[in-house]
Amino acid sequence: MTLIPTASPRANINQRRLMRDLNAIGRIGIGDHGAVTRLVFSIKELRSRQLLIHLMRQAGLKIHIDAIGNIFGRLDGREPKAPAVLSGSHLDTVIHGGKYDGPVGVIGALEAVRTINENKIPISSSLEVVCFIGEESSRFGFSTLGSSLVAGEVHPKDLTNAVDPQGTKLEHVLASLGITRRNLTSLKRAPKGLKAYLELHIEQGPILEAKKKRIGLVTSIAAPSRFKVVFSGRADHSGTTPMEMRRDALVASAQLIEYVEKVCRKFSSMEKGRVVGTVGAMKIEPGVINAVPGKTELSIDIRSTTARSKDRVARMVKRRAQEIASARAIGVEILPIREEDPVPLDKRLLRVTQEICDQKGIEYEIMPSGAGHDAMQMAKITPAGMIFIPSMRGISHNPLEWTDPEDIGLGSQLLMETMIRVANE
Ligand code: GLV
Ligand code: MN
Ligand code: MN
Repeated sequence: MTLIPTASPRANINQRRLMRDLNAIGRIGIGDHGAVTRLVFSIKELRSRQLLIHLMRQAGLKIHIDAIGNIFGRLDGREPKAPAVLSGSHLDTVIHGGKYDGPVGVIGALEAVRTINENKIPISSSLEVVCFIGEESSRFGFSTLGSSLVAGEVHPKDLTNAVDPQGTKLEHVLASLGITRRNLTSLKRAPKGLKAYLELHIEQGPILEAKKKRIGLVTSIAAPSRFKVVFSGRADHSGTTPMEMRRDALVASAQLIEYVEKVCRKFSSMEKGRVVGTVGAMKIEPGVINAVPGKTELSIDIRSTTARSKDRVARMVKRRAQEIASARAIGVEILPIREEDPVPLDKRLLRVTQEICDQKGIEYEIMPSGAGHDAMQMAKITPAGMIFIPSMRGISHNPLEWTDPEDIGLGSQLLMETMIRVANE
């Protein structure tokens, strides 16, 4: 497809307004040491979405909210029936996270679209600012919930083991919103109504800062294999049970956790397909100082941009869990959560962003994403692209997460210019 020359957008986004709104969202759910917690379907997350709706209304966008709570704010183009260009991210956070993972992409897109609107920049396709619900997996172990529903990518088997620490099943929450196993594709947006999806996000890693680049253009997104391992030993008295007679589930878990680290380190070079593995959560029963742990449940996340390596490591970890259990004469159960494949992003969108950077003299890095994003689901129904901006010291999922406001402004400006070009192609 050739690019039709467009009125070169001379408009500049309003960085002060962008930071004002980003900071307003960042105060919702803030606690000690600036840690932000807005778990999916919590009251804090709801309040952040209410504020977004207010800001979208002020900006004159037409608002649509679907059954799960994804929010779409639309600015009609000259051809309102033409496929739309979407841009956004998420407002939910991990537990004790920062204020930029997610909101930068939502408010950055809002700022882009309101600047286009105020400056009456002509656009052919309509533009939509999107806030996807539940991108983070911190509550149910299930990531990119809203965008997966929009892409028609939630499958009945994915719901079986999605339970929060209080025992609430994701499936029941969805059912309360009218989404059941039988109509999991009811929120799917028709690909023919979509022209592209673009997402601005903080890098959440150290590469851009190390290379002194202010922009990252993303080629592909690593995907996770996620599963739980449940070891069932026997709870016994910690004072009376001789060491050789114990069936300690937690010691078995410790062996497996160490193995995850060891095997992933073996896959640390890019040639082999870099794999990272994390045991990020564990339940221990009975979990008291004076009892041998009888049961543990480990939540395991293995990721790579190379499906083959990721799947191989996941298989090795599962096999090791069986070996550990049989050597210790305890039970083991593997509960699948979700298997996903790495997602390549659209080359043409990357080229458009690259051209804009070249014209403006912005130095950029072309790179894969180690973190998951809503773009990985949207890529299944429309061409998708991502723009990264640097994260201080690569820190994310942590209250210390920080990005220079100048970089946030630059990212939003680049996003705006990309949206204009794509909408007018
Ligand atoms: C999302 O932040 C993820 O877990 O990659
Ligand atoms: Mn995140
Ligand atoms: Mn994110």
